[in-house]
Order: sequence, then C-alpha cells, then structure tokens
Amino acid sequence: MTQSIARSGTEQDVDAAALVASVEQALAMARLHRIADPEERLAYYDKIVPKYVYNLGIANNVLLFDLLNEHVFSKIKLTEQDAKYALPPYGVQELLDPITRFLNLRFPDGIDPKEDVFATAGGSGALECLAFGLIHGGVLKPGDRVMLPAPFWPGFLWCFEQRPGLQCVPVRLDGDDRFTLSVPALQKAYDAASEPKPKLLVLTNPHNPLGVNYSRELLDDVCRWALDKQMHIVSDEIYSYSQSTGTDGFHSVLSTDAYRTDPDRIHLVYGLTKDFGLSGFRIGFLVSKSNDVRKVMQGDETLKSLAWFGPLDSLKSAYVRKLFVADDGRPSDFPKTLMADYAKLLKSAFDRTAKRLRAKNIPYVGEKEKSRNAAQFFLLDLSAYLDKMLPPDLVSINHEIDQREALLGAYLAKDASVTLLPGGEMHCPKPGYFRLCYTADTPENVEQAVDNIAASLAKLKPADS
Ligand SMILES: Cc1ncc(COP(=O)(O)O)c(C=O)c1O
Repeated sequence: MTQSIARSGTEQDVDAAALVASVEQALAMARLHRIADPEERLAYYDKIVPKYVYNLGIANNVLLFDLLNEHVFSKIKLTEQDAKYALPPYGVQELLDPITRFLNLRFPDGIDPKEDVFATAGGSGALECLAFGLIHGGVLKPGDRVMLPAPFWPGFLWCFEQRPGLQCVPVRLDGDDRFTLSVPALQKAYDAASEPKPKLLVLTNPHNPLGVNYSRELLDDVCRWALDKQMHIVSDEIYSYSQSTGTDGFHSVLSTDAYRTDPDRIHLVYGLTKDFGLSGFRIGFLVSKSNDVRKVMQGDETLKSLAWFGPLDSLKSAYVRKLFVADDGRPSDFPKTLMADYAKLLKSAFDRTAKRLRAKNIPYVGEKEKSRNAAQFFLLDLSAYLDKMLPPDLVSINHEIDQREALLGAYLAKDASVTLLPGGEMHCPKPGYFRLCYTADTPENVEQAVDNIAASLAKLKPADS
C-alpha cells in the first residue's frame, strides 16, 4: 500500500487541490508570458496574483463611473431594434450627427457629420483603419515607416504593425531629459532613416505618457515640416478633455494653419475610452477628409466597409444614444456637462496624487517645472532604485526591456501590490521610468498605492551593502 493511499481522504484532497492550484498557477503564468501587450499583461497579472493589486499600469478611468451609472447605464432599455444589425457599421447618421456636434465643440468647427466622422471599435480601431485606408489609397504600402516621437503608447505598434504591416520608428526627442518634441529632433530621425523615408507621423496630444499639451505653434511647425516631406499626419487626441490642472491648454491639430491648407493629409483620432472613462466599451472616432480613408470606411461596389470588422454595434449604439441624444430626440447637453464634472474630478485626483508623491519623495517628470498638465498619468522617475538589491525570487514579466527596470516593476507589484507600466515598454530614453495612471482607481486607492510604493522603495538597500 502506498503512503498516499494510507493517508486520510481529506489530506489527499488537500494535496490534489494544491497540485491542481499549482498547475493552474503555472499555466496562468505561462499564458501571462505569452501576452504581447504590456498593459494587457499587467491586467492579467492583476487577475492571477493572489492578493489585491492596485493596477495603475493600465490606462483606465474610473472617475466618471458613478455619473455614467446614474445618467446612462441605469437608464438603458433595449428595444427589438437594438438586437438587429446597426448599419452602417461606422455609426447610424442619427448618432453621428449629435456626436459630431459634440466633437465640433472641442475640435474646430468644420467636421462634417455626413462625410468626415467614422465610429470604430476603439481608438485602436480608428488608427488601424486609417493605416488601411492610406494603404488602400496607395499613399502607404506595407513595410513603410511610421515616425513615433518616443516615449509613446505601446499600442501604436499593434495598430500600425500587426495587420497593416507598417514599421514603427521611435523618434528620440530633444532636451536634457529627451522629452521635448521639436522639428530638429524629427529632422534628425528622418535623416537617419534609410530609404524609403517615413511616410506617416503620429502625434499624441495630450501626450501619453508625458502628460503635456502641445502649443498650436509647435503643432503647426511640426505639421508643416511633415507636409513638406509629403507625409501624412495622425494626431491622436483621445485625452483632449483630460486637462488636470484647472486650465485648458489643449489645441487640436485641426486648429492649425497647416490643417487649413492641407486638410486631406491630417487625420484626427478621438474616442470615449479615456475622457469618458469607457475603456471597456471600445468606441473610437476617426475624423478624416481624405477620400482614401472615406472610401475604406464607407466601402464601395467592391470593398466592404472596414468598420464592418470593428463596428459601432447596436449595443454600443444604444449606450451612445443615451449619452448623446436627449429624451426628446434632440442632441443632449449631457456630454458637455459630464466633461465639466470630469475637469473637476480629474484636477482633484491629480492634485491629491501629486501631493502624495511629493510627500513621499517619489520624483516624477515635470515635477519642478509644473509642466505636466494633461492626460491621466504621472511618469515616475525611479532610476535611483535601479541598482538596489532586490529579493531573489522576482519574476520579470517584461522581457524586451532593461531587466533592472522589469525587476523593479516586479518588486513593486509583489511587495507594494502596485503594478505600473515600465518606461521601457513605451520607449523611454533611459531605464527607470514608470507610468502611474492616477485615474485607474479611486483617489483614495491611488494615495494608498503611492504610500505602498514609498514603503517598498524605502526597504531597498544598496546592492553592495
Ligand atoms: C494615445 C492612445 N490612443 C489610443 C488608445 C487606445 O484606445 P482604445 O482602447 O479606445 O482602442 C490609447 C489607450 O491607452 C492611448 O493611450
């Protein structure tokens, strides 16, 4: 008789359960390592680690949930129509009209709801559709280069490389910290690129992760520079209402003279993911006056609309209708009111987090200059901790980046229960930066997370001690 049979049933059950749990954990870890997108990897990590994690690595926004719940989610009543196809797949005109009215409040008046706006499955869908549109129109071909001022949101890589087959080129910027966008920095990167030269420039304004707004003059100079090179420009303005210091420093690319002179080659991406706190809904808007883009979005005799594969489906349409259309069928003022409330909530969350970071001596980019005023992030500078002694049992979940940075991130996840996005994943110019999304959890929890980070960092000893 073997030992295990001689033991009580309860013990065997416990052993079996422990075995199953450890196999499940191993499988989950294996799956974790196979997830390409670092933000998605953090979200999955959050699910499989046993204790509660403050996931401040992924760019969510919980600040508006209560208001949305009260005014939108709780009021939805689906009709039979909502179970049918919503056509066209890029948004029915009755929705595109009030949506465009709202967009025209923020982006200069001139967006035509019948021609220029296409709803997509998220900002990512809009970016990918744009790439396909330009490829279909012969402006780009697979393999062409896309200039991305670095650091940048890692998702741009999936949007432009994975299916369109373009090639992203990170552009190193100017300034002591290499975080300043300038025409000379772009020119240098352009000169360094081999033939064929890049054909698309991607701007993020307000910037993820730097949290800056670009001035209209800079945008104009940068756009003129790119247009002179026969490039197209996409400005991702998905954080446009995320103004965190109480003053609005946002200027859209659509407000530049460059846009007025060459509207066909400057495209805008917006969406409800960030400003509206609806990341799970995946609702984006592609705004473009280019015939090539229109053609792939609207479809024609031979081409199915690209939006068919990532549509504003009828369920999303029902929610969007509740957001943008009043009960009497007229455009609703709710989105405008919501953004006014958001401005207050965001400022309060920003101030509380900044205060706590300062109190805990955790440095962040732009702290002294007070130059970070938009989007939903603090870019922490933890480079001073890169060479400290870390516990030996940490597992890196970021393989392509500096491993000191990856392990410091793993340490904070384990010891502080806080996940942050390592700067290497966003092509930061040197290791040690971590992006903290301060809208991803309640302000109280973000403060607690900052306290935890500070306590964990304080435990680290110099490597030679
Ligand atoms: C600059 C930027 N654009 C687009 C997206 C993606 O938006 P969506 O989730 O709507 O696809 C993100 C998400 O983090 C982002 O930061």
